[in-house]
Amino acid sequence: MTDEWLWWKDGVIYQIYPRSFADSNGDGIGDLPGIIGKLDYLADLGIDAIWLSPINPSPDADFGYDVADYKDIDPRYGTMDDFLQLIRAAHQRGIRIIMDLVLNHTSEEHPWFIESRSSLENPKRDWYIWRSGAEGGQKPPNRWQSVFGGKAWEFDERTGQYYYHMFTRQQPDLNWRNPEVYTEMMSIFRYWADRGVDGFRLDVFNNYFKDAHFRDNPKKIGIRPFDWQVHLYDTNQPEMMTAVADIRSILDSYAERYVVGETFLADTKMTASYCGSGKFHAAFDFYSLLKTTWNPGRYLHAMQRQDDALPVDAWPIHVLNNHDNPRIATRIRAGKDDEKLKVAAAMLLTVRGTPFMYYGEELGMRDIQVSRSEIQDPVGKHYWPLPVGRDGCRSPMQWSAEPYGGFSKTTPWLKIHQNYLSRNVQAQQADPDSLLNFYKYLLNLRRSYAALRGGLFIPLHHEPQRVLSFIRQDNDHRILVALNLARGRSKLALGGDITRYQWDVLLSNKKKNQPLFEKGWLKLEGYEVCILVQK
Ligand code: NOJ
Ligand code: CA
Repeated sequence: MTDEWLWWKDGVIYQIYPRSFADSNGDGIGDLPGIIGKLDYLADLGIDAIWLSPINPSPDADFGYDVADYKDIDPRYGTMDDFLQLIRAAHQRGIRIIMDLVLNHTSEEHPWFIESRSSLENPKRDWYIWRSGAEGGQKPPNRWQSVFGGKAWEFDERTGQYYYHMFTRQQPDLNWRNPEVYTEMMSIFRYWADRGVDGFRLDVFNNYFKDAHFRDNPKKIGIRPFDWQVHLYDTNQPEMMTAVADIRSILDSYAERYVVGETFLADTKMTASYCGSGKFHAAFDFYSLLKTTWNPGRYLHAMQRQDDALPVDAWPIHVLNNHDNPRIATRIRAGKDDEKLKVAAAMLLTVRGTPFMYYGEELGMRDIQVSRSEIQDPVGKHYWPLPVGRDGCRSPMQWSAEPYGGFSKTTPWLKIHQNYLSRNVQAQQADPDSLLNFYKYLLNLRRSYAALRGGLFIPLHHEPQRVLSFIRQDNDHRILVALNLARGRSKLALGGDITRYQWDVLLSNKKKNQPLFEKGWLKLEGYEVCILVQK
């Protein structure tokens, strides 16, 4: 690797949902010592950083996304010492640690909120968003809705006012306009950066500020009441830009720290507006790979839209899976074999931008189906029987064919997918053609060729319904990537210089034969991944 290697730009980030990764003490919940025990697995896989979903103390109304103490570790995950040990052990292996900070709201059990709700005069009253009801207090202050269902305002008997929550009523939103709150929030970044945390993923950061006048949103047509509004006043307020700059300048006072924002209700342009120098390093554009359906033309279009929107000094990121959405294997109906998933993996790991993986993606884990009584996710509970719950993608990591997939010695908090008997780390490590080994090979390839990381991305004239093909190129290498997203054979007209160059096969899942080109065409088998390097 060259000196210019920058971990968050050249590397690959792997998201762990700690509850579901590895349980070291047999209580059915994953934990930090469990993760430490799997660091060798992750180093061998070839990832460069871990993003941990929240590990702060939490009553789990939203599984960690309702925080009761920003500066401690939930005892079910371990101790502060365990966390410091995880940072050290990860760093020894060249792996960075990204923490999830949930600063838009706290848990209703956070001492700040307990104080805040206790009386109108409490010094912490203004730390949250309290308003008197409209029409003599009979009605909520305005029409804002919670994205998790119902009104965004909860009436609190004791003081006769309403507090605001964008998510569950157990997640009251903080008042970022209060200078004490603002200062406290900034201190959280320093607190963890001082302890060696390398980066932060900011939960719904673009929701920190709401309209100062609490104006009602314009109406529109939609499915849920939340969608009947254009979210003009309850999200993406201009005041956020100051916070973005302040957060970045704190992180820039440390070496090589990173911040990636999770956007909420932001289109590609809005997302891009938060990125670049003096702003965040990156923010998730979910309209890129994650929300795009299986189609090469649409993927290319979505990536180009992201590129167009981003300022020149920003760097794209890509994601196929996370803890809030059905896994790609389930979304694209991958079937029994993993052919389509190999194509998806090759796309994620060879296009221009930092790839984010999600635990179990490398095994092709499928979503579990949960019955009503098995639902854990508050969203799943609220909207039942609508299939919008997020338990499906949060099932325990499938390590082996042992009971509970080797995840735990006891019944896990959420059931394991029944396919764990055959779909697990141990089995896939032993199979040279497995998806896991395919990921490993690709990750290694990315590491070996700088062109695949920082090189130019040049889309080739392609068949938009079947094939995604492009060149990645730097001063040292020219690499041709051709991905057949179709089940049947496809062929790609290349012609010209490309077919006259001499190429080596870097990776093919279809045992590519020489010669590669026939009369200017590159022929591809169904779901073929073909990666060539010019000799
Ligand atoms: C986004 C997180 O990804 C999601 O899991 C959570 O429920 C909400 N933010 C609220 O914190
Ligand atoms: Ca445990």
